[in-house]
Amino acid sequence: MITRQFMTIDAPAVSALIIADLKQINSKYYPEHVIKRMVGLYTPKRIIQTAQSQLVLVAEMFDEIVGTATISQNFFGSVFTRPDLHGKGVGTKLMDTLERLTKQNGMSEVKLHASLNAVQFYEKRGYTILGTVNDAKFGESYEMIKKL
Ligand SMILES: CC(C)(COP(=O)(O)OP(=O)(O)OC[C@H]1O[C@@H](n2cnc3c(N)ncnc32)[C@H](O)[C@@H]1OP(=O)(O)O)[C@@H](O)C(=O)NCCC(=O)NCCS
Repeated sequence: MITRQFMTIDAPAVSALIIADLKQINSKYYPEHVIKRMVGLYTPKRIIQTAQSQLVLVAEMFDEIVGTATISQNFFGSVFTRPDLHGKGVGTKLMDTLERLTKQNGMSEVKLHASLNAVQFYEKRGYTILGTVNDAKFGESYEMIKKL
């Protein structure tokens, strides 16, 4: 698996991956209106716009996009791996890369807003909960932190 910077051509595949996660996984933890709103935030067009102001990464395996995440300073966002590959180590490799890049950039801690369904994944990686966040767009999540 390699992790590389997002390119405009990736937008449809990244959008499809995220929307599949939202509908298949996150929908079990969030009300329908929140999922609908999030689906609207991850259209190919919106992802291209995001990539103009944030570093968007994609994880690729056998020429297929299997994961994605954003980094702004020491904040990670939109961490998603392809639902049919969950539990197979894609998220671990992607997070390893994000944390390594952040450390290389001189940061000593990293933060993220974990969706309700992903808290245990981050806890396993050494993240701890700072508090809850109620975002108008993304609904309820946990602010988490890890010292690098
Ligand atoms: C959370 C997510 C990124 C994890 O990715 P993944 O590719 O499944 O992660 P891995 O396969 O590397 O899992 C690493 C470990 O965490 C565990 N794990 C993964 N997701 C988990 C979850 N949601 N709850 C509890 N444990 C989880 C795995 O079982 C594995 O445990 P092990 O080391 O004992 O085998 C992925 O489930 C996902 O995309 N979820 C939907 C989108 C989402 O909510 N993203 C987070 C936004 S903040």
